[in-house]
Amino acid sequence: MSFQMARRAERMNPSIIREILKVTERPGVISLAGGLPSPDSFPVDAMRVASERVLRESPREALQYAASEGYAPLREWVAATMGGQGLDVDPDQVLITTGSQQGLDLVGKVLIDAGSTVAVERPTYLGALQAFAPYEPEIVSVPCDDDGPLPGELGVAKGARFLYLLPNFQNPSGRCMSALRRAQLADAARALGLPIVEDNPYGDLWFDTPPPAPLSTRWRDGSVYLGSFSKVLAPGLRLGYVIAPKELFPKLLQAKQAADLHSPGYNQRVVHEVIKDGFLREHVPTVRARYKAQRDAMRAALEHHLPAGCRWNVPSGGMFFWLELPEGVDALALLPKAVERGVAFVPGAAFFADHAKANTLRLSFVTVPPATIERGIELLASALKESS
Ligand SMILES: Cc1ncc(COP(=O)(O)O)c(C=O)c1O
Repeated sequence: MSFQMARRAERMNPSIIREILKVTERPGVISLAGGLPSPDSFPVDAMRVASERVLRESPREALQYAASEGYAPLREWVAATMGGQGLDVDPDQVLITTGSQQGLDLVGKVLIDAGSTVAVERPTYLGALQAFAPYEPEIVSVPCDDDGPLPGELGVAKGARFLYLLPNFQNPSGRCMSALRRAQLADAARALGLPIVEDNPYGDLWFDTPPPAPLSTRWRDGSVYLGSFSKVLAPGLRLGYVIAPKELFPKLLQAKQAADLHSPGYNQRVVHEVIKDGFLREHVPTVRARYKAQRDAMRAALEHHLPAGCRWNVPSGGMFFWLELPEGVDALALLPKAVERGVAFVPGAAFFADHAKANTLRLSFVTVPPATIERGIELLASALKESS
């Protein structure tokens, strides 16, 4: 081959989730793998009305190139909404991104040098590892319990460029950090001079009580906060946002300009049109109710079908169960057997930067309806019983 790959390209790997999703496209396979929001939750009618309105009232502006920072009314909406959660934000600090995934890439581009250190949770979001990897960091993972990273262990992250945290209904573990843990982590990070990158796509999807305030509220100058419209509206819009301290914002903006000039202005206007008068106050509770019922269906199925020796959390929001199989069972080896039977999941090892636990796996409860969840878990249990 005549192309010589850049070092960063060598560090890029196909996402195991995308690879698994290809398999799950096979007809008849029940996918508990990808974190695909339920398509029944998409606000199709509201989107249609808003699209028509944008095309009627500001078609040329919506179809023209636009500001890299994002559509001003949408930035204002984000700032006001975050204010309601205790995070006092100036609209100038809000950068609209092409999904929060792009926010992770921009953060990596601006903060990581080859050989510098980035600290993550154990396990952590695979897409963040993918976003950071091309910038060639050394990744260290902080030991965690069911409440998130252990503040006493944060010393392993000393000198890192940042600590990447998912406080709400973490992907993949489903855990949600308590207010106390957030306070301890923010204090410990501040004492170490360790900036925090807080990623929160799932915080609105709580089932019984809202999660505690964002970690960023506890250390404003040392935190970058990422949000997304993917889980409360629809992921196909590819819209998210980064809230950054004012010293960091210009660099993120320049990185964004180089990446894609701006996120689709048409989508931004449509989303703003949908949400500006409080639509989410009515819509999000319907998504919560749907996902809670699906969470309950998965919990009941796990309790009913899974053999002794399996352990799982019960998530209080978000999209995922995290399952620990009996010691010695390899979830990656189990996957082809499960797919053969007609169910797919994501082996947990993919979510670890180091210290991978081969006996873990992630199950999404949002994509398919309760009866299909029940059947999927039954198939998983039969694959498991056969292989042990
Ligand atoms: C933790 C986390 N961060 C970021 C993203 C990216 O979301 P989006 O780019 O759709 O906003 C996801 C998607 O699943 C995620 O789970």
